[in-house]
Amino acid sequence: MKLLVLGATGNTGQFLVRQALEQGHVVKAVVRTTSKLTIQHENLTVVKANIFSADSLVEHFNEQDVIMSCLGFPISLFSEVTGYTESIKAIVLAMREAKVTRIIAMASWYTKRESVLDYMHIYNGSCQCKLVRM
Ligand SMILES: NC(=O)c1ccc[n+]([C@@H]2O[C@H](COP(=O)([O-])OP(=O)(O)OC[C@H]3O[C@@H](n4cnc5c(N)ncnc54)[C@H](OP(=O)(O)O)[C@@H]3O)[C@@H](O)[C@H]2O)c1
Repeated sequence: MKLLVLGATGNTGQFLVRQALEQGHVVKAVVRTTSKLTIQHENLTVVKANIFSADSLVEHFNEQDVIMSCLGFPISLFSEVTGYTESIKAIVLAMREAKVTRIIAMASWYTKRESVLDYMHIYNGSCQCKLVRM
């Protein structure tokens, strides 16, 4: 399959890119700093784009089978973490325009100030699960 990976330079993203290539997939990694991704493979293309701009993403989304996001944004105790919300708006818009219908995304809890408390509860041993339908 043709996989487009966002957050490919991160801890999880690099594992994903390696495993996808090992399994014979064709991978396009969309990153903000191309030099950070040191993996080299004939089936890997690394491109630079802005994850908060559908216009920037759409040309790379064309003809992809699935978008896979390993994007991650640092926790903040003092303000909301808006990266997930803002990037997914651009990603979904670009997917619609490019007619890509599949997405697999990792995310975190702490997108709102009060969800930092949920995050802390997880580390205190209590865990909750939520299903989000897009
Ligand atoms: N690792 C864990 O144990 C764990 C546990 C639970 C949940 N998660 C969630 O799983 C996801 C991946 O985790 P991870 O540990 O692999 O994350 P990570 O190592 O911090 O990687 C984050 C990725 O997001 C990219 N990114 C962040 N801000 C960006 C921006 N403004 N523009 C473009 N790219 C941006 C980073 O690019 P740069 O390299 O350019 O910074 C990097 O590729 C996250 O959502 C995380 O919260 C992880």
